[in-house]
Amino acid sequence: MLLIKNIGAIYGARHESLSPLRGIEMSDDARVDDAFLVIDGERISHWGQMAELPSESDFQRVIDARGGLVIPAFCDSHTHIVYAGSREGEFCDKIDGLSYEEIASRGGGILNSADRLHDTSEDELFRQAIARVRQVMAKGTGTLEIKSGYGLTVEDEIKMLRVIRRIAQAEPSLEVRSTFLGAHAVGRAYTGRQKEYVDMLVAEMLPAVAAEGLADFVDVFCDRGFFTVEETARILEAAAKYGMRPKIHANELAISGGVQVGVAHNAVSVDHLERMGAEEIETLVNSSTIPTMLPGASFFLGMPYGPARDSVAAGLPVALASDYNPGSSPSGCMRFVWALGCIKMRLSPIQALNAVTVNGSAAMDCLDRTGSITPGKFASLIITNPVPSLSYIPYAYTEPWISRVILKGRDLTF
Ligand code: NIG
Ligand code: FE
Repeated sequence: MLLIKNIGAIYGARHESLSPLRGIEMSDDARVDDAFLVIDGERISHWGQMAELPSESDFQRVIDARGGLVIPAFCDSHTHIVYAGSREGEFCDKIDGLSYEEIASRGGGILNSADRLHDTSEDELFRQAIARVRQVMAKGTGTLEIKSGYGLTVEDEIKMLRVIRRIAQAEPSLEVRSTFLGAHAVGRAYTGRQKEYVDMLVAEMLPAVAAEGLADFVDVFCDRGFFTVEETARILEAAAKYGMRPKIHANELAISGGVQVGVAHNAVSVDHLERMGAEEIETLVNSSTIPTMLPGASFFLGMPYGPARDSVAAGLPVALASDYNPGSSPSGCMRFVWALGCIKMRLSPIQALNAVTVNGSAAMDCLDRTGSITPGKFASLIITNPVPSLSYIPYAYTEPWISRVILKGRDLTF
């Protein structure tokens, strides 16, 4: 048993938390001031107020939070953290004025990463990816979704998904969810033959992925210049037969119909949403799909930010995620995502914190185990240095503030 004492306040302390927070509920801080917290093995046991602190001799270990805050570990529900090499050449092209789509049409973008991944062994890919994963764990991420999608052949998609499985095995204190994104782009061998690529994906890739049980979810890049609504529907229907629910890329480059096709196929989440109108918001209001916005991609590509504030006002359960990938968001820093949610999307600090914790967990279907400080859930949390208030964290957005990261009861600091 582990005791954390002298906590200034615990945020996200919910006795039960199996649903995402919708609309006005996102302003709920579920806060306990002047608290202690007890961890039993890898799970949260209970909390209480310092006035009722139990005897310290009953615990194997005691951590003094010195007035710092406790918040749930971040739940990053959208990443492409498994990739080979990096793409800072395209970064320089962007500085010179090329758009994301122009770079893609010159053979850069996703296909550039697919070529590199093809030339990289599974062991080397794992070595590169696990280093990034350990960095984001140190920055407080406790639940992480990872997509394939830089393979684009049966062998290379399987290679990526096996690397994701190895990451989960190598870091058991991290909760990992995997997503099959064979429809990220048309593989090079199928250039100009998009229909045949989709045929192959449905007939060969999906069964191969399912046979090894490598993916929890399925994703399609449903957007202008990538996959159509009809192709998306076909892939989602085929994946449903293998029990894979959708989490899809929609409305990044245009109002693509992606939100509607995702909701129609019971998507866990629809992600990006930089371009979203009243119709898309209305579709989401009548669904259980989590709208997930990726402000790091908007920041990096200079795109509009998703309408997070209007979505909350409409009653939606907004999640924010990093989109960590080599092309449009080369950062998995959820603390920065939290700050962008406040600075650029005008969410309040507590709304944005709920978007990167409890609602992010919902966007991975993990609410039974992560996303809040709830008895019985995994003890995955961050202890902050003493700070004047919760709002100080996204406000002082580059200041070091993490004192400790504890994932499934394991203290990463020592
Ligand atoms: O989520 N939008 C599609 N896919 C990624 C970018 C991938 C890349 O450029 O490598 C994204 O932004
Ligand atoms: Fe993405």
